[in-house]
Amino acid sequence: MFKVLLLGDAGVGKTSLMWRFSDDVFNHTYISTIGIDFKLRTIEVQGQKVRLQVWDTAGQERFHAISVSYYRTAAGIMLVYDITRRRSFENIAKWLRKIDEHAKEDVIKLLIGNKCDMEQPRAVMREEGEKLADEYDMAFFETSAKENESIDEAFKCIVEEIMKRFVPGWGLKEKDKPAKEAVVEIKKKSRFAKNKEKKCC
Ligand code: GTP
Repeated sequence: MFKVLLLGDAGVGKTSLMWRFSDDVFNHTYISTIGIDFKLRTIEVQGQKVRLQVWDTAGQERFHAISVSYYRTAAGIMLVYDITRRRSFENIAKWLRKIDEHAKEDVIKLLIGNKCDMEQPRAVMREEGEKLADEYDMAFFETSAKENESIDEAFKCIVEEIMKRFVPGWGLKEKDKPAKEAVVEIKKKSRFAKNKEKKCC
């Protein structure tokens, strides 16, 4: 089970992304998150089932003290801005500083420009999102919770990155993994060696 946290300004669509991902629903009314909430979903990545706990934090400043206590246990963090609100993009730097302060050093980060169904009035160009993501070594997706665009892809991507970092041998081609027979052979030999040692003594 891995924990993935959604961070970003109020109203960028964090709750909507979580609900679209977990239950495939979308709500047009804006009900701002109070404190923190989570949802579970199992996804399949490279033929392996992975259970995800997705945490939706509140964008409003007054709840930040609650949400920072959840940063440390997250394996991945999705930073979300709204492509129609420039300010939410500029504030990503602020969210990154918070991650530096409160999350694990090796946490996987991914950048999301949400509401890409709203080309008019777009306030952040795709290239700007890509550039920022590159600077901080993050993957980048433009998504739409409304139209269900690129959300599964973004979650799969962060899970793959998490697995690569935390699960030894993940992502290696079969031929590059250590052969099971070789491991058994070594174990057998070492037990034999131990017995011999005992006899000697
Ligand atoms: P806080 O809980 O206050 O931090 O906000 P949030 O980031 O969770 O935003 P939320 O998901 O509540 O969405 C805010 C508003 O944006 C709602 O009215 C959503 O319907 C709308 N919204 C979310 N995602 C999209 C999207 O992809 N496209 C469009 N057009 N609207 C969206």
